[in-house]
Amino acid sequence: MSALSRAFVMGHPIAHSRSPLLHGYWLKKMGIEGTYERLDIAPDRLNAFFSDYRETGWVGGNVTVPHKSAVIPYLDRIDSNARALGAVNTIWWDDGQLIGGNTDGIGFMDNLDELAPGWDSGARNSVIIGAGGAARAAVHGVLGRGLSVSLCNRTQSKAQALAEYFDGDVRAHSLDELPGLLEDADLLVNTTSLGMVGQPPLDIDLAPLKPTATVYDIVYVPLETPLIIEAKAKGHPVVGGLGMLLHQGVPGFSHWFGQTPTVSVELRNLLTDDIVAKSPSA
Ligand code: ATR
Repeated sequence: MSALSRAFVMGHPIAHSRSPLLHGYWLKKMGIEGTYERLDIAPDRLNAFFSDYRETGWVGGNVTVPHKSAVIPYLDRIDSNARALGAVNTIWWDDGQLIGGNTDGIGFMDNLDELAPGWDSGARNSVIIGAGGAARAAVHGVLGRGLSVSLCNRTQSKAQALAEYFDGDVRAHSLDELPGLLEDADLLVNTTSLGMVGQPPLDIDLAPLKPTATVYDIVYVPLETPLIIEAKAKGHPVVGGLGMLLHQGVPGFSHWFGQTPTVSVELRNLLTDDIVAKSPSA
């Protein structure tokens, strides 16, 4: 067997994934003989990809859109995080079994804990905007810390479906209800694509928020969204989305290469430079 451990990120499209930059950095930094390769797998090639998976020698990899749920039938087992989120973003081997996990919730929480330490002391209520896959990871993480979740989405029926999926203190609301909900919030999270480059900003009035409330935007291109800029100007603790990408990669790397990497300032700077260099206004 080759000494080279090969991991991948697969999705469709995949060209813009920053995961190769992240894992490539850790491989080099830690002196590990390994690769992390970008694989563009169209949905009609998923079956073929897994039919010879065992022979190809992959140590594992990341799974992204549109395959996060579609890969599940090909795996021997999924972990409790993947079960809770109904989606897999990381695959690895364990004792000859192909395992699927989901590290998005871990990345979401570790980033929050790193950038707003102590955010949850005395915190009781959260407002989470959006009802897609990222919202699911956020709701899972925040419920795990014992906060209530008010889930607000443009399409309220989707928020309702997501609220029902979780067996905790989650209530669905429309975006019109935000002002009243913000008054009691200790944490506000944007999980929608609003504020991302090329998208309109998330247009909400932060005036009702308590000054101590933490504002978290999972969007990281641009690094500081209009929401983060406004929240910062008002003195709120703020958390940008880049660290979620960095932290979600840690468990996968450990599974594949046997060593636990760290999210360092140098790594943040590397990704920040890449985002700035590729942003339209640069
Ligand atoms: P992901 O899986 O990455 O979270 P997604 O499933 O496409 O992405 O979800 C995107 C979220 O952004 C949804 O909650 C979506 O609201 P709808 O459910 O009503 O579609 C929200 N979103 C996207 N564009 C929006 C807009 N212009 N205004 C309000 N919400 C928007």
